Amino acid sequence: MAKPRVFVTRIIPDEGLAMLRDQVEMQVWQDELPPPRAVMLREARANDGLVTLLTDKIDAELMDANPRLLVVSNHAVGFDNIDIPAATARGLPIGNTPGVLTDTTADFAFTLLMSSARRISEAVDYVRAGKWKTWGPKLLTGPDVHGATLGLIGFGRIGQGMAKRASGFGMRVLYYDVYRREDLEKSMGVTYADLDSLYRESDFISIHTDLNDSTRRMINARAFAQMKRTAIVINTARGPIVDPNALYDALQSGTIGGAALDVTDPEPLPLSSPLYSLPNCLIVPHIAIASVATRAKMSEMAAANLLAGLRGEKLPTCVNPEVYERGVRK
Ligand code: DGY
Repeated sequence: MAKPRVFVTRIIPDEGLAMLRDQVEMQVWQDELPPPRAVMLREARANDGLVTLLTDKIDAELMDANPRLLVVSNHAVGFDNIDIPAATARGLPIGNTPGVLTDTTADFAFTLLMSSARRISEAVDYVRAGKWKTWGPKLLTGPDVHGATLGLIGFGRIGQGMAKRASGFGMRVLYYDVYRREDLEKSMGVTYADLDSLYRESDFISIHTDLNDSTRRMINARAFAQMKRTAIVINTARGPIVDPNALYDALQSGTIGGAALDVTDPEPLPLSSPLYSLPNCLIVPHIAIASVATRAKMSEMAAANLLAGLRGEKLPTCVNPEVYERGVRK
């Protein structure tokens, strides 16, 4: 019997590719940049399954390009690149990679918090520019992390991971989430706060919610206006949750103290963005999950989802399990 045909939209870690090699006829896009739209449509037509990244737009047009496309396996926990209602309506299961990246992302969000508080990138630039002449009593001072208040927007797996790390630093932790987690408040030592109180009381605000219609541009001029003038905002979730123009104004005018962004809107952030001109804005290229081990585990999960979908089995981690009640594509 012919092997199923699969298109992988980028070179993912070998652990995942090795799981697929004997099982499928596989084509892997070799370029560093994502496949152009025309290639995506062509490959959707020609294949039974796709392994995609968050940079690939998977919409109704692409799903309709091939009614025999059996599965889309996203090599990411986030899936805002995919039109999930359209996939569900078409009986197309979508896989993602939750869980394995929780601690790696929380580690990194905490790294950004520490780095912006203690001005690490400014300090590195200062030394490299030959400005280090002596020890200065006021040189590159920043706020303490220990004992400060951390406000978490979103208290799912990664938000909880941040709370665990913060407790080691003796921080007071507030959280806001549409689902209040009273069950965790005592055991994790966290306090629920409405958004306005969280903005007013936090020294650090770290975003851990997904991107949807109610979170898009949620961190806007109104939000910044309520924050402390020393507040530092950390975003490792999705760029469009923060209004970039309002962020620039808030940083530039001293409405808030700083920002650390792993994600931006758009991505990549063009070099013309005024955010790059601000010393109190630390920007890195969407690398929160970039540990070798986590990327390898994600590739294995993506491969496992893909293989299950090709066999007509339930995906181990499925974003839209309701497809199984409605009937999946065959
Ligand atoms: C995810 O998996 O959604 C991450 O944002 C990728 O870095």
